[in-house]
Parts: sequence; C-alpha cells; structure tokens
Amino acid sequence: MGGDKEKLVIIGDGETAEIAYDYFTSDSNYEVVAFSAERNFRRNQTLLGLPVVPLEEIEKSYNPNSHKAFVAISYTQLNRLRRKLYDIAKKKGYALCSYVSPNAFIGKNTKIGENCFIFENVTIQRGAKIGNNVTVWSGSLVGHRSVIRENCFVASHVAISGFCDIGENCFLGVNSCTVGGLKIAANCVVGAGAVVVKDTSEGKVYVGNPAKPLPNKSTQLFISGEETI
Ligand SMILES: CC(C)(COP(=O)(O)OP(=O)(O)OC[C@H]1O[C@@H](n2cnc3c(N)ncnc32)[C@H](O)[C@@H]1OP(=O)(O)O)[C@@H](O)C(=O)NCCC(=O)NCCS
Repeated sequence: MGGDKEKLVIIGDGETAEIAYDYFTSDSNYEVVAFSAERNFRRNQTLLGLPVVPLEEIEKSYNPNSHKAFVAISYTQLNRLRRKLYDIAKKKGYALCSYVSPNAFIGKNTKIGENCFIFENVTIQRGAKIGNNVTVWSGSLVGHRSVIRENCFVASHVAISGFCDIGENCFLGVNSCTVGGLKIAANCVVGAGAVVVKDTSEGKVYVGNPAKPLPNKSTQLFISGEETI
C-alpha cells in the first residue's frame, strides 16, 4: 500500500482533516500516514485508523526531511488558526503541500501557493494567482487575472469575477459573488449570497445585494473567537 507515494502528515483532527484525508487518499500522490493536533486540543489518539500525534513532538516520529505536511483547518478565528499551525509546521522544517483536485480546471499562467485546498469543480482561470494557505471549496470560480492573497477561505459556489483582488485573511460565504475588477480589503467577511459591487473597507462584514457593511460590526469578533461565522 502506498507504493512510491510521498508520505504526508495532516495537521488537524477535526472534520476538515477527515475531508482532507478522503481527498488525498482517493486521488493524490500522497499517502497519509498520521494526523497531528496541539496536545491540549487533541480529541483522540487515533483517527481513521491512523495515529494522532501531538504537534509539539511530531517531528520525532515523522521526520520533516521524509514527510510533507498539510494543515487541514477551516476558517476558525477568521483563518488565524490555520495560519498559526501552518507557521508552526514550517518552523519545524516541513514542506507544506497543496491539494488541487484533478477535477478542478486550472488555466494557463496561474499560480497556486502552498497549503492550498482546491476542491472539485473549481475553475481558476488564466493568469489568476492564489497565495499560500488558501481554501477554495467546491464549484467556485476564480476569474481571469484575479488574485486571492494569503490565508483566505472561499466557500462553495462563489464567483470571483476577473481582475479582482481579495485581501489577506478574508472569508467569502457560500454563493457570494464579486463583480469584475474590485478589491476586497484584508480581513473582510462576505456573507452567504452577498453581491459585492464596490470595493470594501478592511475588517468589515458585508451582506446582501448590493452588499453593504453591517453597521457597528467588525471582523475582530470573529478573529478573537467571540463570534463564529
Ligand atoms: C455574514 C455572517 C457572517 C453574519 O453573521 P453575524 O455577524 O453573526 O450576523 P447576524 O447573524 O447577527 O446578522 C446580522 C444581520 O445581518 C443579516 N444577515 C446575516 N447574514 C446575512 C446574509 N448572508 N445575507 C443577508 N443578510 C444577512 C441578519 O439577518 C441580521 O439582520 P438584522 O440585524 O436586520 O436582523 C453570516 O450570516 C453568514 O452569511 N455567514 C456565511 C456562512 C457561510 O457561507 N458558510 C459556508 C461555510 S463553508
């Protein structure tokens, strides 16, 4: 089993980690050999028949020279938790890989960073660029020459039109869309089904059609974990 596949440790032991296991196992060149979680947050000692190793000592059992890592965490704390674990894995010397579904369409002259999770039926059109640690869930469009900066989470069936610029750490809710050429500032939350027709201001929550910021609400509440998306 596994043959000459590269060995992979999934960092995370929750729902996203189980989803990542399924995708990497069904159609990638990686063999998942273990999960890992911070000692104080580890749910169980095994998951899907594999060990769940404390992150603090993972490199003792799974050498960073012979194993890659993938951080499988959703948008907790507006993507901060995924970023934190990604930084820890890098510091330990792991190369972070990306999962790009063979059923995604990836156009010419595109760039996809490390630790990205690109699901089936995603379309990334020519010249689009996706930074490190970005998730793009099933069926979403990243239009031609658009940029998604680091640590963003794009839910399913989101349409980012061409020439857009999505700032760091943003969350774009299911079925939301942006008209062409606009800029979503860093740390924004775009609600489910929102239609963004103008550039946004940093750290605000946008809902509706046309999307408007929720008054008196900043995304700091999501970052601090006081509220969840
Ligand atoms: C935008 C969002 C984060 C706001 O959450 P929140 O800060 O807890 O806001 P609240 O639920 O308190 O709603 C505040 C107001 O915005 C409205 N609102 C919230 N989300 C909305 C949306 N998506 N579209 C239109 N109006 C929305 C609420 O009805 C409420 O209006 P009111 O003050 O007139 O009653 C959340 O509603 C949302 O859309 N999350 C995205 C979910 C998603 O896409 N999940 C995919 C996971 S993969």
